[in-house]
Amino acid sequence: MQLGKVPRLRLGEYPTPLSELARLSAHLGGPRIFVKREDLVGIALGGNKVRKLEYALAEAKELGATAIVTSGAVQSNHVRLTIACANRLGLRTFVVLRGEKPATPTGNLLLDHLLGAAEIHWVDPRGYASREELVRATEARAEELAEELRRRGEVPYVIPNGCKPLHSALAYAGCVLEVLEQMRAMNLAPDAIVTACGTAGTQTGLVLGSLLFAQGQIRVVGVSVSGRAESLKERIWKNLEEALRFLELDLKIPGGLIEVYDEYVGPGYALPTPGMKEAVELLARMEGILLDPVYTGKAMAGLLDLVRRRTFGKGETVVFLHTGGVPALFADTQAPTFFPAP
Ligand SMILES: Cc1ncc(COP(=O)(O)O)c(C=O)c1O
Repeated sequence: MQLGKVPRLRLGEYPTPLSELARLSAHLGGPRIFVKREDLVGIALGGNKVRKLEYALAEAKELGATAIVTSGAVQSNHVRLTIACANRLGLRTFVVLRGEKPATPTGNLLLDHLLGAAEIHWVDPRGYASREELVRATEARAEELAEELRRRGEVPYVIPNGCKPLHSALAYAGCVLEVLEQMRAMNLAPDAIVTACGTAGTQTGLVLGSLLFAQGQIRVVGVSVSGRAESLKERIWKNLEEALRFLELDLKIPGGLIEVYDEYVGPGYALPTPGMKEAVELLARMEGILLDPVYTGKAMAGLLDLVRRRTFGKGETVVFLHTGGVPALFADTQAPTFFPAP
C-alpha cells in the first residue's frame, strides 16, 4: 500500500510470516502469542529497517541521489540493511560508525564489509560524556561526509539512523494492516502488538496503524532498549502528530495508546541482562526462533514479564514483532553472554 501517496519501492518479500508460538503460549498459560517475522523479510538477514528503507530509498531515487550516507553503532542493523537495500538499487553507501574500530570485524560489521560499504568512517567514543553526545557527533560527521561527497561530484542522500520518523510511521502503519489481513484469514484479531523501541519509529507506525485500521483498539506495547519511557512517549506523540498532519487526518490520539516500558533496558544500550538471556534462550529452545541480544531479546524479556504480571488477559491474542537484529548474536561483544569463556 502507498499510505498518503508517498513514493515507496518494494524491496522485501511480503507479507512476512505470522506464526503462532504455541509452545511458548502453553508454557506461560496464555495469552495466545504470535510472532510477526520481520526478520524473514528477505534481504541480508532482515529486520524492521527494510520497510522503512523502501520509503527512504524511494525518496533518494526521486531526488536523483548517486550515493547514500548513513550512520549508526558498530553493530548497527540499520547500517547493514541500508547497504544491502541500496545495493539492490545500484547505489553505494558511505557509512559513519560510532565506536572503536575492532581488529577483526564480527556480526553486523562483518556483513557491512561483505555487502561492500563504499567507505566506513569512525567516530571514537572517547571524549564524549554521554551516549547522546556521541550519537549527535556521529550524525554531524555523516552530514560532513555528505558535504565532502558533494564536493566530489556526488549527489548524496543522508538516511538518519532508524530512518525519518515519517517514513517509519508509514512503514509500520502498513505492517499493522498486513497483520490484520493475516489474522482475519485465521478468523482472529490482534489485541496487542509488542515491539522493541529504539528510536521509536516502529512503535509510532504501529500506533498509527492501530488508529487508522483498528480505531485504536489494538494495544501497542513498546519495550525500550535504551531511552527513558517518558522521553520516548513524547517522541512518539510528536512523530504521530507529524504523521497525522502529513496525512491530513484530524484524529484524536488516546493518551493510553502510547505505552512504553523502560525497566528492561538494564545497565544500558546493548548491555546484557539476565531477562534478555532467559528470553533469547527460551525462544531458541522452545520455538527454534533466534532473537537478538540488543533489541528483540530485551523486548521478549519485557513481554514475558508483562505476561507474568498478568497485564494481558489469558484469552487475548498478542503479536510479538520480531524486528530482526540476529547478526548481533555473532558479535564478539555479545557472543560471550551465551557461551562464557571457561
Ligand atoms: C533489530 C532492531 N529492532 C528494533 C529496533 C528499534 O526500532 P526503532 O528504532 O524503530 O524503534 C532496531 C533499531 O535499530 C533494530 O535494529
